[in-house]
Amino acid sequence: MFDSLRVPVIVAPMAGGPTTPELVAAATRAGAFGFLAGGYLSAAGLAEQIDRLRALTDAAFGVNLFVPGVRSTVDIEPYAARLWEEAERYGVSPGTPRWDDDAYSAKLDLVVERRTPVVSFTFGVPIEADIERLHDAGSAVLVTVTSQEEARQAAAAGADGLCVQGFEAGGHRGVFADDATDPAGGPLYGVLAALRLVSAVTDLPLVAAGGLVHGADVAAVITAGAVAAQLGTAFLRADEAGTNPTQRRVLAEAGRPTAFTRAFTGRPARGLVNRFLREHTEHAPAAYPQLHRLTRPIRAAAGSAGDPESMSMWAGQTYQLAGSAAAEEIIELLRSQAREALRRAEGRFG
Ligand SMILES: Cc1cc2nc3c(=O)[nH]c(=O)nc-3n(C[C@H](O)[C@H](O)[C@H](O)COP(=O)(O)O)c2cc1C
Repeated sequence: MFDSLRVPVIVAPMAGGPTTPELVAAATRAGAFGFLAGGYLSAAGLAEQIDRLRALTDAAFGVNLFVPGVRSTVDIEPYAARLWEEAERYGVSPGTPRWDDDAYSAKLDLVVERRTPVVSFTFGVPIEADIERLHDAGSAVLVTVTSQEEARQAAAAGADGLCVQGFEAGGHRGVFADDATDPAGGPLYGVLAALRLVSAVTDLPLVAAGGLVHGADVAAVITAGAVAAQLGTAFLRADEAGTNPTQRRVLAEAGRPTAFTRAFTGRPARGLVNRFLREHTEHAPAAYPQLHRLTRPIRAAAGSAGDPESMSMWAGQTYQLAGSAAAEEIIELLRSQAREALRRAEGRFG
């Protein structure tokens, strides 16, 4: 898996805007690999993205899907009540906190029908029958994991590879079950610790993700045994990314820390600290995707107004070091930095 890549870099799926077919196509032109982000899209919206990508390149690509979780029974009302004031600030009403499965079955049918080369999953493991369907369609299946236990479950279900996500990562944590007693939704391992722990329980090919922003980081996870490094934040300001202009500006200012929060979606995710995150994180229940729907009009209105204080601005811990350039240039830079780092490291061991 990913053995034939000229550069062992994967442009991460980034749902909610940053991922575009143009970004994925640029990754493949540079000899790397890219995922379309199926999360939040309708099946028709995802089909359109696949068509656009297919018009740009014949190269292999991936699609990422969110595995639906168990419907949380927690009382959302107190949190919804808090958000009225926030919504009024932007002249909107909070959304309806409805649970749904993100059109999972329809999107799964689509990726099977389109014989998608690699299908990756986050927030859980697909059932074995679905993995078999994907295998029958010629797809390789990658599952995001954050711990040894999740790695065991994914391997047992028939995954072909695992994306090992460290706590440095931007965006949602891939934790299968969001442990509400824990602000991060589950145990926290840095990417190198997670790789080491997971490789102790499985021989599956591992992709490493979380805070990797320099070629030396890519070289580090490859020498630690990963087959490829998956980078999201490093591409948020790529020319081809669809990142919201306000988030681009705030990323470039590099003035804010990142933190975990459930406040925007109900699932723990790492993003740039803003007023919304500061004021609501401690009150937000573990109820995904209900909170995603509840806060959506507020986030959208803040985005339209160019106000970063109520937008979700997912970013990894090393976002300050990510630059703005064409994706191909970013990948070429990663490659040359990795080669240089490896040369230097080899010298150190005689
Ligand atoms: C803006 C943003 C959106 C993301 N969306 C997704 C997604 O839709 N699916 C997914 O599996 N991971 C998603 N991730 C997480 C990435 O797959 C990956 O774990 C993360 O980007 C790695 O850390 P880094 O951002 O520090 O490179 C997202 C990350 C970011 C920054």
